[in-house]
Amino acid sequence: MASTTPSMFTNPVLKWVDARFPLTGMIKEHLTEYYTPKNFNFWYYFGSLALLVLVLQIVTGIFLTMNYKPDAAYAFGSVEYIMRDVDYGWLIRYMHSTGASMFFIVVYLHMCRGLMYGSYRKPRELLWIFGMLIYLCLMAEAFFGYLLPWGQMSFWGAQVIVNIFSAVPFIGPDLAVWIRGDYSIGDATLNRFFAFHVIALPLVLLGLVAAHILALHEVGSNNPDGIDIKKNKDPKTGIPLDGIAFHPYYTVKDIVGVVVFLMIFTAIVFFMPEMGGYFLEYNNFVPADPLKTPAHIAPVWYFTPYYSILRAIPPLFGSQFPGVIGMGGATLIFFALPWLDRGAVRSIRYRGNLYKSFFAMFIVCFIVLGYLGVKSTDVWGQFGDWSVILDTKERATWVARVMTIGYFAFFFLMPWYTKADKTKPEPARVTMH
Ligand code: HEM
Repeated sequence: MASTTPSMFTNPVLKWVDARFPLTGMIKEHLTEYYTPKNFNFWYYFGSLALLVLVLQIVTGIFLTMNYKPDAAYAFGSVEYIMRDVDYGWLIRYMHSTGASMFFIVVYLHMCRGLMYGSYRKPRELLWIFGMLIYLCLMAEAFFGYLLPWGQMSFWGAQVIVNIFSAVPFIGPDLAVWIRGDYSIGDATLNRFFAFHVIALPLVLLGLVAAHILALHEVGSNNPDGIDIKKNKDPKTGIPLDGIAFHPYYTVKDIVGVVVFLMIFTAIVFFMPEMGGYFLEYNNFVPADPLKTPAHIAPVWYFTPYYSILRAIPPLFGSQFPGVIGMGGATLIFFALPWLDRGAVRSIRYRGNLYKSFFAMFIVCFIVLGYLGVKSTDVWGQFGDWSVILDTKERATWVARVMTIGYFAFFFLMPWYTKADKTKPEPARVTMH
């Protein structure tokens, strides 16, 4: 049956397509007649930037796969071949490695916006849940990808992370063997991580991003004031008085973000792709050697807040399982936010000092934990060796413990402090600062 929406096109080919596919309908619903709050600020750039980085990663990933070999004997060499002999291989690889870190920077800022403006709250709970699933998927994607260059850090980082699973009571050791496909990280592990990294997880990620955006368009965007623009509609047109069409207004605004982002991105790719060892760790330019454990094994910066929590929680009866629970809990607890927040208002702009203090504390804890996580174990004392507790180096452990408590206090005490908080009245209409 032909589409009933009158076509917006004059071009005969597009008209022909439009009669057989809801082109006009989709453009209107998601772009020209999707009304978005007019007070978006800096923090609203990161959703479109996350989309951009996703596309960049997929495109550069496809080109890398053309020359990469997922074989323990050839993987490291094939990456060197890409860097030295493949035309523009170095550019493709640096774009992909820089893109991985930039993805997390963008997503962390995007999530921070959600926290500040209460974007996870009713009716956006499902949108938030899709976001969190994306985040988990992204972490798995980054972890699997990191093994592929088969450098020392790839190998030993994967070894440490997979060993975490062996701390699970009863099934732990079998679980770790099942994940690796071997008794140690080896060719079988590399092959399965490659399969997950290049096809399984990207497919899931794309599906989740589509669901994320559909859920967003179902309920509409939140905004820096956290108020519902659908409450004030033009009686004649039914269009929110504080809403503007996504296209052309925000497509143009987002282009500004894209240009600035690409300036920063290209500066890193061309001038400092290793970013002082934070984006590409120096030890990963050394081929994997199962017989030589590097002195410092630290995950890439975007995992370090959770890694610090793992290291901060002391073992129980010799088992690291409490740390594993702490680390897993620290990531999963974000899912519960929509139900923990009892505040009378959404946005931080109208919250009281109690909420603001807890929020500031959480950000400080997250950053300090991240900082401690990139520090090598000799700042901390050996991983799992708690006998050196009085050593001055152990101060880091205690700082991490306090920060871990602060991190969880933000969530566990949220039902109390959001309710007890002295909020300011929300304005009836959005404000433009
Ligand atoms: C690949 C990763 C992601 C992509 C491509 C993506 C894309 C988007 C886009 C395009 C928007 C609308 C524009 C904007 O509000 O900035 C948006 C909104 C939103 N996203 Fe994401 N997102 C991603 C990850 C996440 C994650 C990890 C979370 C949280 C756990 C999240 C939570 C939200 C929320 C709550 C909104 C609504 C914000 C508001 O209306 O104030 N997103 N996302």
